[in-house]
Parts: sequence; C-alpha cells; structure tokens
Amino acid sequence: MFAGRMLPVQLLAIFALLSPPVASQTSCSSLAPKNPNPSVAPGYKAQVIANGFTRPRSIIFDKSGNLLVLEGGVGVTALKLKDDGGLCLSVQSKSVVIANTSLNHGIQMSADGKTLYASSSSNAWRWSYDSSSTKTTSDGTLLVQNMDNTDHITRTLLLSSKEPNQLLVSRGSSNNFDPIAEDVNSGHSQIRAFDISDSSKFPYDYATGGTMLGWGLRNSVGVAEHPITGGIYSVENNVDEITRNGVDFHLNNPGEELNFHGYLNGTKHPNQGTNFGYPNCFPAWKPAEVPGSSGLMVGQGLWSRKAFNAPANICF
Ligand SMILES: *[C@@H]1O[C@H](CO)[C@@H](O)[C@H](O)[C@H]1NC(C)=O
Ligand SMILES: *[C@@H]1O[C@H](CO)[C@@H](O)[C@H](O)[C@H]1NC(C)=O
Repeated sequence: MFAGRMLPVQLLAIFALLSPPVASQTSCSSLAPKNPNPSVAPGYKAQVIANGFTRPRSIIFDKSGNLLVLEGGVGVTALKLKDDGGLCLSVQSKSVVIANTSLNHGIQMSADGKTLYASSSSNAWRWSYDSSSTKTTSDGTLLVQNMDNTDHITRTLLLSSKEPNQLLVSRGSSNNFDPIAEDVNSGHSQIRAFDISDSSKFPYDYATGGTMLGWGLRNSVGVAEHPITGGIYSVENNVDEITRNGVDFHLNNPGEELNFHGYLNGTKHPNQGTNFGYPNCFPAWKPAEVPGSSGLMVGQGLWSRKAFNAPANICF
C-alpha cells in the first residue's frame, strides 16, 4: 500500500501513494488536500490519509504497522491505520508516543522495532519502544549532544541497515553562508556516524565524536543508504543568493548536489570524510551565467572565497 518514505520536507498532511494496477475501488470518504497533491509518476495516485499535524517532518512504520509521525515542536504520534483497499486508507486512532516539544525532525526505528530514535536541534535520543502499545518503555537516553545552531536546525537521523550500530546524524549550517563551517572542528555542515553500541561513550559531543562522513555540506537533510552496496548518499539544496565579483547569479546557480560518502563497513572510500565545498565552493548549474567562468562545466565549481588546497580557482 505505501510506496517509499516521505521526503523530509515540511508536509502538512500525510499522503498514501498507490502503485498500479489500481484494484477495483470501494468508495470511501477522502480527505481533501489543503495544498495541491504532489506530482507522482504515471500510474501512481496520491491521497491524503491524515491531516491536522503541526510541522510533520518525518514518518516511519513500527513493527505492528502503525505509522509514527514526528511533528516538530510536538513529539511523536502513532497512527493506527485502517486499510479498506485501493486508496481507502484512513486513521483509526491516534496516540501520543513521545510528548517532547524539543523534537523537531529526525526519527528512526531499529530493525527489531524495539528502539526508537529521534532528534531535536541539539540532541539525538533513543527510547525503548513497544509497538503493541505504541508506548516508549524507558526514559530517553541522550546519544549525541551540542548540535544547536541557528538557521538550519533539523538533524536528520539515519540508522544503517548494513551496520546497525551506526547512527548517522546530519547537521546544517548556522546561516546561508556560514563561515564557521570552514572549521572542520566546528561540527557545522557535517554528516557524522556514531557507534551506538558503546553506551560508555554517551552522550557524544557532535563536533568531536563519531566518524566524519563528510563536511562542507551546507544542510544535507536527505541522507540514505544504498540497500545493496551500503553506500551512503546525501542531497544538498544549495546556497541561496550567491554572488561573485559583485554579480548576483543565483537564479540558475549553484546546482543542487547528490553526494557520496562511502561505506560504513570499514572499507574507506576516497570521498569519506572529505570536504564537499561549502561555504566556499559551489557547483555550476548554468556555467555561462557564472561571472568569470570561462570553460566551467556543469558540476564544476568556483571557489567563491578561499581555497582548500585547490588548483587555481576550480573546485569540484
Ligand atoms: C525531551 O526528552 C529528553 C529525553 O528524555 C529530555 O531530556 C528533555 O528534557 C525533554 N524535553 C522536553 C521539552 O520535554
Ligand atoms: C564494504 O562494502 C563495499 C561495497 O559494498 C565492498 O566493496 C567492500 O568490500 C566492503 N568491505 C568490507 C570490509 O566488507
């Protein structure tokens, strides 16, 4: 019934995506979307199944098929769903899992369904969880701390399927252009992986703990693991209002990025832990519109401010 996972963007309602072929549908009452339905690939349909949330940022299923919704400034809510076939999916009941106003974005569940992870701007926690009652069965354990900054305040969590002891945490910048992120020791604009099997290390300090998977990543909210290779990828919605030589060229630049951060299994890929450019290097999307850019190709970048050992003026 459900295809995929909602992207971690601000959603006002939860949609179901139905893949073809559409079974003969019973008629059912459906919730009207507040905003236009998302565009979906041919053969798919989208239908609102629940609404009335406060900043629903992330969703995940528990082992009993309940849909857990992380609402920013509220906490985690469990939705028990009623499936009447076709697109007729509705909420049978709602219950509070965690009431904690500091939670604002990330949610993950262990493979056995018994441990729930969630993040606030500053912290990542975990709780023991019972899907049959949709309740936590322990207090929260603080795993990672000291992540607070202004502007980009979501902390995407990704629990690796391949390496279940690794919890990835993505932290954004404190500004559109954040000079603090130039300092590798700042912890700004980084993705780091933390070994959650060793509680003697809790809570980790974000900037100094764990394994660096990448830095110079403005605000990589989308982070995923390749289901077969275990490769870690992130997406970057790049900087706003970019100028160079006093010229604003932000309309078609820079490009967004899909970045690769290697594997968690100990085999070190050359990308792993490296700098991905921000806040100094941005890839061109329309090179002809980049001031002073002769010969620049799509995806190549110009150092906008200062170079990290880069060949003259070009970065990638
Ligand atoms: C959120 O939960 C954590 C972990 O239990 C706790 O330390 C913190 O005080 C809670 N915050 C709020 C606002 O309830
Ligand atoms: C880690 O994963 C990569 C990609 O799947 C693979 O090539 C490599 O051999 C693996 N390393 C170990 C130590 O298993």
